[in-house]
Amino acid sequence: DKGNRRHFMEKEIHEQPEVISHTLAHYVDFVSGVSKPLDLPFDFARIGRLAISACGTAYLAGLIGKYWFERYARLPVDIDVASEFRYREMPLSANDAAFFISQSGETADTLASLRYCRKAGMKIGAVVNVRESTMARESDVVLPTLAGPEIGVASTKAFTCQLSVLASLAVRAGVARGVISREQEKTLVRALSEAPRYANQVLKLEEQIERIARELSRYKDVLYLGRDTNFPLAMEGALKLKEISYIHAEGYAAGELKHGPIALIDENMPVIVIAPHDRIFEKTVSNMQEVAARGGKIILITDAKGAAQVSVKTMETIILPDVPEIISPIIYALPIQMLAYFAAVFMGTDVDQPRNLAKSVTVE
Ligand code: M6R
Repeated sequence: DKGNRRHFMEKEIHEQPEVISHTLAHYVDFVSGVSKPLDLPFDFARIGRLAISACGTAYLAGLIGKYWFERYARLPVDIDVASEFRYREMPLSANDAAFFISQSGETADTLASLRYCRKAGMKIGAVVNVRESTMARESDVVLPTLAGPEIGVASTKAFTCQLSVLASLAVRAGVARGVISREQEKTLVRALSEAPRYANQVLKLEEQIERIARELSRYKDVLYLGRDTNFPLAMEGALKLKEISYIHAEGYAAGELKHGPIALIDENMPVIVIAPHDRIFEKTVSNMQEVAARGGKIILITDAKGAAQVSVKTMETIILPDVPEIISPIIYALPIQMLAYFAAVFMGTDVDQPRNLAKSVTVE
């Protein structure tokens, strides 16, 4: 049931404040500010590495997870798309753990990677949305996302719930590994608990985002740029746009601009820059200058501080609330999804059932 929404995707985008809150509450206690007990088959303090494998949007959630586990827990993460992971013959250690991220829990390549790691004797965690799925059954621990059924082929609420799980686990790992103090844990859990409220605020920007998406739907190619966790988010923005609107899009690490994609910049290719005012904001601004100098049209997604400091002329600026660093990818995912959604609506495509795609890819 779509409720009063035109598409499942639209409904699922709007469900995010609620399902993010459910998911976080499964892992952290908002009142005491600590991680809830969780029966893990391995000890974060004793593993040397964490392997992560997934496909599509779930893979991009994992990539953001890598930044978190390495930053907050000093835990090295090996991550790859499942179709590469399963054949790459990478060295794996039975003393390490592996996480598989999947909305459906049935994706063929991800399942094959899971079985491959199981054979190597690793402990397996499945971050899945479908509790009765094959991956859930074949893992040592199920780490559920509580997004509820996701019907639209484009993953939206499953993605932000995957991020919620990974952020919570990174904090837990940080405490276990002695990287995060109990005081810092409280601050981070408090930050996580604020995600639903900020997500709600971002949904209110719908009118502006719809207007920008109408403009975007006039172009054939779009480039997304970001640094740090906004780099995987740039790739997620591009994936979402191409998958439902059929507009060609690429996501790049902003620093890679001058290593190739800058050759494409002209007035016919809008550049969406995802740049909250963080410690590398100025670096991204210099990339924006390079784009502007070549006549590129910039759509900047930032916060009030970022908007005030940026010296480059933008075509549009979407101003999000100023959010704590750890929840930034969760909050910045929303305008990315909304842009793709409205662009697809303007293109007149079948938003919930894009051509050539299946919700669950159970063949290789
Ligand atoms: O069910 P899964 O999470 O394993 O699916 C993985 C991908 O097929 C999926 O995320 C796909 O990339 C989405 N359609 C993207 O919106």
